[in-house]
Amino acid sequence: MTVLGLESSCDESAVAIVRRHPKGHVDVLAERVLSQDAAHAPFGGVVPEIAARAHAEVMDTLVAETLSQAELKLEDMDAIAATSGPGLIGGVMAALMTAKGLALGSGKPLIAVNHLEGHALSPRLVEPLAFPYLLLLVSGGHTQLLIAEAVGRYRRLGSTLDDAAGEAFDKTAKVMGLGFPGGPALERAAEAGDAERFALPHPLQGRPGFDFSFAGLKTAARQIWDGLNAPNEQDAANLAAAMQARIAASLAERTSFAMDHFAEAYPEADAPVLVVAGGVASNRTIRRALDEAASAKGFRLLAPPIKWCTDNAAMIALAGAERFILGETDPLDAPARARWPLDAASANLQPAIGSGRKGPKA
Ligand code: KG4
Ligand code: ZN
Repeated sequence: MTVLGLESSCDESAVAIVRRHPKGHVDVLAERVLSQDAAHAPFGGVVPEIAARAHAEVMDTLVAETLSQAELKLEDMDAIAATSGPGLIGGVMAALMTAKGLALGSGKPLIAVNHLEGHALSPRLVEPLAFPYLLLLVSGGHTQLLIAEAVGRYRRLGSTLDDAAGEAFDKTAKVMGLGFPGGPALERAAEAGDAERFALPHPLQGRPGFDFSFAGLKTAARQIWDGLNAPNEQDAANLAAAMQARIAASLAERTSFAMDHFAEAYPEADAPVLVVAGGVASNRTIRRALDEAASAKGFRLLAPPIKWCTDNAAMIALAGAERFILGETDPLDAPARARWPLDAASANLQPAIGSGRKGPKA
């Protein structure tokens, strides 16, 4: 099963060709990713209109380059998969419309993929990981804990009530003038810092449940920064270290609760796996905290390589292949969706439009 995948839901334009073998092993035959960091850097964050235009400009070239890198033709594909949400709507349309054009022109089936399902299945690019497994997705747009039960069956345990973890990193880095993207910049700044120097809050500490909250932490960090008289480099390092430590501790604590829940729900799973995905998973302090938490609970921590942790098209092509194997394809009028919860239960519970708990980050 050979599938072409396209991704453009945030600020990475990506195309990949994935071959999925019958027993679940996967070869990524070719992949191209173009980051738009340079285009957004002057604004300190992703500007949706700039992102959409930049995706539309490169999608066709990336497809051609990826096919030629794999030494394959469009006719060699079994299906064409594209992210059709959730994400920045103008961007989502770039990959989806390109995929529709390719599908129409070649007569190949189209598969409209939920971006979150791509992340949820991304560890299976590495190994044919058996279901069920626990997934912590931490990126600039999402912070959620979910159980992957089967292809197409995901149970969300919790998500952020306000900001995503990556967003808290990015916005704090922006306030501190550390540059964009903020997460890696903040991690570098934190190296020389003392995490105990500033008293930042511990979000939701000790409170049972699987939801996250980072907005209060972000605001507290900003207030400390604004209150400093001519902050120097050491102040920046200390605040960055404190911020990183609090986020790591909160992710580890909420994930520990989820591991307990998983162990109770699936007592027969004797080698349970915790998967961590999303750009924030590249933070070493966070990885260490999750590694310790997983060991303490008898879980194996599986972190896909960074290139498949952050937004990429290989995971979209794989999700497309898995759905195609189940006989699922989509019509050429499949819509681009800004919001699209992964599990049906929360989709039914929550209205499509809202803010905060009910909004896009839900
Ligand atoms: O998964 P991703 O590439 O894109 C989406 O948001 O979908 O994640 C990007 C996010 C950004 O918020 C970025 O600041 C954060 O991941 N990030 C990090 C690190 N590297 C990337 N956050 C903390 N530490 C890092 N080393
Ligand atoms: Zn993503």
